[in-house]
Amino acid sequence: MEKIVSLCKRRGFIFQSSEIYGGLNGVWDYGPLGVELKNNLKQYWWQVTVRDRDDVVGLDGAILTHPAVLKASGHVDTFTDPMVDCRTCKARLRADQLAEKNGAKQCPNCGGKDLTEARPFNLMFQTQMGASADPASIAYLRPETAQSIFVQFKNVLDVSRKKLPFGIAQIGKAFRNEINPRNFTFRSREFEQMELEYFCRPEQGMDLLAYWLKERIKFYEEIGISRKRLHILDVPEKERAFYSKGTFDIEYEFPFGRQELEGVAYRTDYDLQQHIKASGKSLDYFDEETKERFVPHVVEPSAGVDRTVLALICDAYDEDSAPDEKGKMETRIVMRFHPRMAPIKCAIFPLLRNKEPLVAKAREVQALLRPHINVFYDEGGAIGRRYRRQDEIGTPFGVTIDFETLGEKGEEVRDTVTLRDRDSMKQERVAIKDLPQIISTKIR
Ligand code: GAP
Repeated sequence: MEKIVSLCKRRGFIFQSSEIYGGLNGVWDYGPLGVELKNNLKQYWWQVTVRDRDDVVGLDGAILTHPAVLKASGHVDTFTDPMVDCRTCKARLRADQLAEKNGAKQCPNCGGKDLTEARPFNLMFQTQMGASADPASIAYLRPETAQSIFVQFKNVLDVSRKKLPFGIAQIGKAFRNEINPRNFTFRSREFEQMELEYFCRPEQGMDLLAYWLKERIKFYEEIGISRKRLHILDVPEKERAFYSKGTFDIEYEFPFGRQELEGVAYRTDYDLQQHIKASGKSLDYFDEETKERFVPHVVEPSAGVDRTVLALICDAYDEDSAPDEKGKMETRIVMRFHPRMAPIKCAIFPLLRNKEPLVAKAREVQALLRPHINVFYDEGGAIGRRYRRQDEIGTPFGVTIDFETLGEKGEEVRDTVTLRDRDSMKQERVAIKDLPQIISTKIR
């Protein structure tokens, strides 16, 4: 994990937020490569969840949330972690994560056993709307994206004219005042979720739960996460939310242990019923064929963007050996991202930077590829070193413009380049005009 955290900072995937002021605990900024990786993940999720389907539409709800919404959903009263304070070192700790020694819970910071009684600590961030500071002006930063989907169910149904089963999907920020943010970005206070609320008839719930679990496992495989590091936990009834008739956690084997990436839950009609009760508005569905009116049930695959980015990074990290400038084998760090997820798809290298025709041709190739994929131009240093820099950030393809490209070694190879594959390190000669097609096919 140390190597991964260090690479993330060194190469610009993830930085600690407000770092020059000592950092803000549990909050992270994504650097130039991190934002590309994250965007690729979100775009692919949106493509397969919304755009490729006739039965799902999207929503982009607000972060600031009316307290009544979160009162009805149960978050105001029960979205809590049990917390204790250590009277010796004043640390605030999660009671359920404390180790015991000789039958007594112990502070992990100072070893002290003088701890307060556990009390519930609400994980929501509260803020004040408007100038007055009375209780009526309280708003919350949403702790999940799901609630705006439930609250807008009727509006979306009316405008989209969908028939059950159908879903509403959303990607967006969520905030939780975690007592112990930890394991790099794994447990953060500000994070993003990719959630789908898939509404259905009550009798379809269990089958759709199985269906969505399968779809979601397929998704992780499609973005390049190894199946052998993914695990499915069938959450036992006593650990599920009381309204859930079935929940699966999709877990990933992180270097710090097996941990949840996503929850796929059959939430019955709990959420819509809660909002019907609290708002007094109807959030039901009228079936034109059977003439029945009822409140739909829902199956919810809820994934964390940041956790999936972290899993992508952990899964991609590899070390092998490759020859250096003098042909001596050296350790190579290589991020084996699936080309679909890689932040940069292709690097473009003129063989020498002081040969104007090579540079001009390389810039031409860059302009040709730019509209199709994210490319990176690099003319600095020996070619082997340039390859190594791209391997370390997981760029799957490298194009080198050499003297053959300029036609100096025969007309038949004019306007061809070498296309290098990150994983096999093999190079093939291809025509420049074919590059957009060849690379686009490989990254799709
Ligand atoms: N609407 C259901 C819901 O929010 P959850 O299990 O609390 O369920 C769903 O959260 C996903 O959101 C988790 O599986 C995880 O990927 C992500 N997530 C939750 N808390 C997080 C945190 N503190 N930091 C990063 N990701 C988090």
